[in-house]
Amino acid sequence: MYRLIYISTASDALTSADVDAIVDASIRNNAPRNITGVLIYNGLNFLQVLEGTRLNVEEVFNRIVQDPRHISVTTVLAESAELRMFAGWSMAGRKTS
Ligand SMILES: Cc1cc2nc3c(=O)[nH]c(=O)nc-3n(C[C@H](O)[C@H](O)[C@H](O)COP(=O)(O)O)c2cc1C
Repeated sequence: MYRLIYISTASDALTSADVDAIVDASIRNNAPRNITGVLIYNGLNFLQVLEGTRLNVEEVFNRIVQDPRHISVTTVLAESAELRMFAGWSMAGRKTS
C-alpha cells in the first residue's frame, strides 16, 4: 500500500460547481482502482490523501497535477504504509472554512 498527500492552491476561477465535479470524478475514478482517501477544500487550498497501490496512486496523481483547476501542487508525503487511513472511502469530500 502506498500513500500520497499533497496540497495545492485553487485557481482563481474555481467555482463550487467545479469542486462538486472534482469530487464526483474522484469517486467515479478512484473506486474501480481501489484508491481511497479524502479531499479537503478550505476555499483557497486543497489537501488530498490518496492511498492504494503505488501504480494506481501515481497514475491518478499524474492527472491531478495537470488539472488547471488548481496550481502549485506540492507533495507533502509519499510513502509505503501498512494500513489505509480511509478504508472504504473512495473519496470523502470536506469543505472547511
Ligand atoms: C484538487 C483536485 C483533486 C482531484 N482528485 C482526483 C481524484 O482523486 N481522482 C480523480 O480521478 N480525479 C481527481 N481530480 C480530477 C482530475 O484532475 C481529472 O480531471 C479527472 O481525473 C478526469 O477524470 P474523467 O476523465 O473521468 O473526467 C482532481 C482534481 C483536482 C483539481
